[in-house]
Amino acid sequence: MKTKTIIDFIEMKKNNEKISVITCYDYSFARIVEKSSVDMILVGDSAGMVFAGYDSTIPVSMEEMIYHTKSVRRGTSKFIVADMPFMSYQTSDRDGLINAGRLLKEGGANAVKIEGGFSTAPLIRKITDASIPVMGHIGLQPQSVNMTGGYKVQGKNPKDAQRIIEEAKILEQAGVYSIVVELVVEDVARKVSESVSVPVIGIGAGRFTDGQVLVINDMLGADSSYQRKYLKKYADMESLVLGALNEYSSDVKDEKFPSEENSFI
Ligand code: KIV
Repeated sequence: MKTKTIIDFIEMKKNNEKISVITCYDYSFARIVEKSSVDMILVGDSAGMVFAGYDSTIPVSMEEMIYHTKSVRRGTSKFIVADMPFMSYQTSDRDGLINAGRLLKEGGANAVKIEGGFSTAPLIRKITDASIPVMGHIGLQPQSVNMTGGYKVQGKNPKDAQRIIEEAKILEQAGVYSIVVELVVEDVARKVSESVSVPVIGIGAGRFTDGQVLVINDMLGADSSYQRKYLKKYADMESLVLGALNEYSSDVKDEKFPSEENSFI
């Protein structure tokens, strides 16, 4: 399958063709995603939560993001957008520019994602001027949970809704190729998609965005206790893996594994 580019994603929006995005953090899963019809891979800083077990994305470092991005790149030729982790761009535009470059040069990403609206637009302009495609991220911004008071649905009142729409427009002017809208009232996300010409990718943002993104571990059902209204589980990975592990363990104890055919005779 031909690797899609930012030109293809913008064309897909023009043609009303929905864009599928999935997160990925390692080589094994990247190989499987490579064989799928998914359009774009996000190496999200959600890696910190679903992969490393942190309770937020705040502790994730640049080194961790580069490690995950490199691992994914080895398993796929698909378009990869990699997250700029907390404090990799908030400290200065120079830091932001250098770290965005590292995700492409060292990680092998095709683009970077940056949380924030009005405040990050000037930096995004500088990064896109350096020929690094940027995906914006508005609505719920997990790196700002300590300021915003948790993982709450955004855009519930008219003032908030208007701010989210204005932020999307500012990001488009700053040169983003796409925008993630997270945990936003469906009608607000629809208006955001209608207000900009770049693709808007939703997560918990309803039916009318130009595409969708899900965290791979969540949609595969790796944690049966993780349930969210916006999430659809396409597999029950926890049961599948648990079943296989218990079967393996029993086979070892019952001396059924290894058999003659698994042995070098
Ligand atoms: O880090 C991530 O996986 C994300 C998605 C939730 C959009 O930012």
